[in-house]
Amino acid sequence: MNAIELDDVSLMLGGRRVLGGISLNIASGQFVGVLGPNGAGKTTLMRAVLGLVVPSRGAIRVLGQTATRGNPAVGYMPQVLSAVPQGTRLSGWDFVASVASGHRLGLPILGRQTRAEIERALDLVGARKLARRPLGEISGGERQRLLLAQTLIGRPRLLLLDEPLISLDPHHQQEVVELVKALQKELGITVLFSAHEINPLLGAIDQVLYLGNGQAALGVVDAVITGPVLSRLYGSPIDVIRLKGRIFVMSGAHDVEHDEHRHEGPGHAAHGHGAHGHGAHGEQIDHV
Ligand SMILES: Nc1ncnc2c1ncn2[C@@H]1O[C@H](COP(=O)(O)OP(=O)(O)OP(=O)(O)O)[C@@H](O)[C@H]1O
Ligand SMILES: [Mg+2]
Repeated sequence: MNAIELDDVSLMLGGRRVLGGISLNIASGQFVGVLGPNGAGKTTLMRAVLGLVVPSRGAIRVLGQTATRGNPAVGYMPQVLSAVPQGTRLSGWDFVASVASGHRLGLPILGRQTRAEIERALDLVGARKLARRPLGEISGGERQRLLLAQTLIGRPRLLLLDEPLISLDPHHQQEVVELVKALQKELGITVLFSAHEINPLLGAIDQVLYLGNGQAALGVVDAVITGPVLSRLYGSPIDVIRLKGRIFVMSGAHDVEHDEHRHEGPGHAAHGHGAHGHGAHGEQIDHV
């Protein structure tokens, strides 16, 4: 069975077409890296799979059913982490439990079965000890572990992880990728994992879904990360350079995967991020 099927899907936001006429199938059990420049539609696509963005054309099927909100078989880690209030005494356990009980940051009374479910999720990410500590005192990488545990509550068969590597150093990035890979294998689930850069995902992903220019390319790394495919998705000539097991996506002398997400690259203003983007990217200055 396919985990996700897109049949001629177009997604519009604020009157603009983010993705146009995309058809593709993602088989169950695949670990898929979702890449593409800022504004390419990675988050929008995940929100559409969650039923939060309704296609203006075409149909999305998720685990054999039309995409619909609140599907317990789909776990989601959103791109922007909810801020933890400074000095909070709330523990990691309470944080993970807040999803299991349907309360946000409340301290509900939990049944034995729910507690067992929370312990299972914490064990799967190796965070049982970590969960006893106050949230205000743990690192970003440790918090990613707890966020991952949250997504496992309810035993989803599809995980949508939106930029789980953001703000992590390379060592912790590798740790998160390996943890997700181990979960995907152990639980036999499908994972969509978006990232700014392909390199941390090499060796872990089965396929890459690259978005750009309203279009998409899905396939194994060697089939998708090529000059011709990426030139089409970036709308400008792209060279792919492989060096010592790493891949560099170059537009002239400019490494687009490394640089696009820190500065506004040439032609990037066309994405029009300004009004609706995500605070972390500093789009305040987009239109200056
Ligand atoms: N609520 C909204 N209304 C209108 N346009 C939006 C809205 N949310 C996002 N957009 C626009 O839709 C496009 C796709 O955004 P999306 O957040 O899906 O991109 P992304 O690939 O996740 O980018 P990033 O790498 O920055 O996370 C962007 O041009 C963005 O500005
Ligand atoms: Mg995004």
